[in-house]
Formats: sequence, C-alpha cells, structure tokens
Amino acid sequence: MKDLALNKKTRMGSSLLLQGLPSVYIQASEIILIVTGLLLGFMEFKNINFNYSKFNRQGSSSPQISSRTGMLIFYAPAFLVACFYLFCKLGWPHASILLQKLGFLQLSITWQLQMEASTRLLVLTVAVALHFFKRVVEVLFIHRYSGRIAIGTAIFISFVYSFEAVSFFYVMQISEGSPLPTMDLMPLGILLFVIGMGGNLYHHYLLSRLRKDGKKGYSIPHGGLFEFVVCPHYLFEIIDFVGLAFISQTSFGFCTATMIFLYLLGRSLSTRAWYVKKFEGFPSDRKALIPFVI
Ligand SMILES: NC(=O)c1ccc[n+]([C@@H]2O[C@H](COP(=O)([O-])OP(=O)(O)OC[C@H]3O[C@@H](n4cnc5c(N)ncnc54)[C@H](OP(=O)(O)O)[C@@H]3O)[C@@H](O)[C@H]2O)c1
Repeated sequence: MKDLALNKKTRMGSSLLLQGLPSVYIQASEIILIVTGLLLGFMEFKNINFNYSKFNRQGSSSPQISSRTGMLIFYAPAFLVACFYLFCKLGWPHASILLQKLGFLQLSITWQLQMEASTRLLVLTVAVALHFFKRVVEVLFIHRYSGRIAIGTAIFISFVYSFEAVSFFYVMQISEGSPLPTMDLMPLGILLFVIGMGGNLYHHYLLSRLRKDGKKGYSIPHGGLFEFVVCPHYLFEIIDFVGLAFISQTSFGFCTATMIFLYLLGRSLSTRAWYVKKFEGFPSDRKALIPFVI
C-alpha cells in the first residue's frame, strides 16, 4: 500500500500536460496542425472555401458525389480506426493477428505488450469513437442535404480526420506510464465533451427542421444559439474538441483544438457574410461564432 502511494507520488509530474516520450512525428504534426489551421482559417475568411455545402462551386470541373456519400467518406474511416484501436486495447485477440497478416509485425508485438491501458487512454479512445459515430449517424439520419460535394474534398477531409484519430492514439500510447500532470483535467474534459456533442447535435436538428417540408432551399435558422450566431453548431464542435484536449492533457490535443477553432472561425465568418448577402434585412447583431463577441 505504502509502495503504491509512493509509486503514484513519484509518477506525479509538475506540469499540466502529460509528458510522453519525445516524438519527432508528434512535434511535426503539431506544427502542421497550427500552420494548417492558420492557412485554412484565413482562406475560409477570404472566401476561398472548401468545396461543400453552401460553398460548393457547382460549376467546378472536379467530379462530384452526393453530399451524404461525401460526408460518410469524411467520417466513417476515422470511426473505424477508433473502433479498431479500442478493440485492441480491450484485448481483442484477433486485432494483433490481423495486424500481423497485414504485415505490421512490429506494431502487433508492441500492441500485445501494451495491452493494458490507462483509464485516460480508454476514455479518450471511447470519446473519439463516439464523436465520429455521432457524425456518421447524423449524416445518415439527421442532415437534409441539398447538393453535392467534390470527391477530392471528401478524400482530403477523410484523410485529415483519420490522421487526427491515429495521431491522437499514438500520442496517448507514448504517454502511457509517464508522470501524471499535477491537476487532472479529465473530468472537466468529459463534461465539455458531452456539452459539445449535445449542443452540436441539437443545432444540427434545428437546421434539419428548416427543410422538413422537403424543400431544398436555404432559410434563416432560428432557435437555440442561432438567435445570437450563425454557426452555433461550429461553436459546440469546438467545445467538443476542447473537451478531447482536456481528456488527453497533451499538447497534441490542444493543437488539434486550436486548428479546428481557426478553421471554423474562418468558415463561420464566411457563412455570416453569405447570410448577409443572401437575405435582405438579416439581423445585423447576429455574430458568426461566439455570441456578442465575433
Ligand atoms: N472538426 C472539424 O474540423 C469540422 C469542420 C467542419 C464541420 N464539422 C462538423 O460537421 C458539421 C456540419 O458542418 P457543415 O460545414 O456541413 O455545416 P453546414 O454547412 O451548416 O451544413 C449542415 C447541414 O445543414 C444544412 N443547412 C445549413 N444551413 C442551412 C440553411 N440556412 N437552411 C437550410 N439548411 C441548411 C446543410 O445543407 P447543405 O449541405 O444543402 O448546405 C447541411 O445539411 C459541423 O457542425 C461539425 O459538427 C467539423
């Protein structure tokens, strides 16, 4: 008992972040995330938008698929990655055999050796799986799409989400057993994650009700935080990712949340400008992303 307490004490770190093994891959990924966030956010702000939803350029020569199929391509691979990792961590014996068959011998041995997982790693993995599962369910059963999406955009965004999921698990894996942060932010992270998921889902539902008569046009959304901002669903998406960052307590988690904030800030500013241009008399006090602020 005394040993356990001592062990826990020596594993207590002095920082708010988990200090995992040094990894060039993770350091490079963090830089890429911040640079990508700045670049994409600035481009969205300047109306050089990703080719989907109301910003899809119909005249573009790139091959198009239905929005629903495109959005499934966005989210389904990342969901499958999260499920696979979760099964591995829960001791699914076929996972390492499958990895070996696919030629990942070293990875399969490492995963067998590291079958035990900390609560933080399991909570993070379940949260990431839930995040992408919710998006798949919304794409299939909630959103009412009007248009199409460029296949190149769908593949690029799918790659980004899968990269995010794999990197998140990798960073947690190399942080296993490292000194614990002085303050445990995981409970706060779980709370933010649940608020983010719930608020995001609710505002997606409000958007889908705008087309309950089967018409495919656009109208001014009402209800919830739509009375204050044009993109409350983006605001809750950011809260969801801040929750994931708090659960992981890694610099990678916070870089991911920053990247998503920058991108969605740019896109919400573009969306606000789109509403002002499309709807005469659009309420001028309605902000883009954060009520009363921006
Ligand atoms: N993590 C990230 O980096 C990230 C980035 C972007 C999005 N997302 C997630 O994806 C969700 C959806 O994003 P999005 O960019 O596709 O949102 P969006 O452009 O607002 O579209 C969401 C749905 O609502 C419909 N819609 C939007 N405005 C409408 C209006 N004024 N009248 C009627 N229908 C309307 C859209 O139809 P149309 O398709 O016909 O326009 C679509 O079905 C976000 O809330 C977030 O959860 C995540």
